[in-house]
Amino acid sequence: MSKMHLKLTVNGKAEELLVEPRELLIHVLREKLNVTGPHIGCETSHCGACTVEMDGKSVKSCTVFAAQANGAEVTTIEGLSPLGEMNVLQNAFREHHGLQCGFCTPGMITRAHRLLQENPTPTEEDVRFGMAGNLCRCTGYQNIVKSIMAAASEMNAAKEAAE
Ligand code: FES
Ligand code: FES
Repeated sequence: MSKMHLKLTVNGKAEELLVEPRELLIHVLREKLNVTGPHIGCETSHCGACTVEMDGKSVKSCTVFAAQANGAEVTTIEGLSPLGEMNVLQNAFREHHGLQCGFCTPGMITRAHRLLQENPTPTEEDVRFGMAGNLCRCTGYQNIVKSIMAAASEMNAAKEAAE
């Protein structure tokens, strides 16, 4: 099968590589670019463990052909804390026990980040609706919702203090 030339930006870094037309974005990220934050849970678009941002939208990268990301800006969990420090959402998940085994957490936080970009003052219902595509086998979701609500409050307080 003939390969295609793929150019994309991942976490702010320009990347160029050859991919087969059938290759999925999650495999290119993890296996070719060594970006292993996004996980593979179901590979059928159900669990959200592979969630990344592509051009400012949450996508399940097991459902996107790498070829579709040609020219795109992709951000993974690694790109949300580029200096290696915990960001507000990560801290909130830690403080409010939003994770147990942590397998779903990169996808949860990447999705929650986009949700809060789109709606900085969500209700609990908005959070539950916005996170409905991300599954967790451990937590029962209550603490995930609590973590995201806490992060939203902290981000809004910081924004107000800066104004
Ligand atoms: S691995 Fe992509 S949605 Fe489950
Ligand atoms: S924390 Fe274990 S799957 Fe979510």
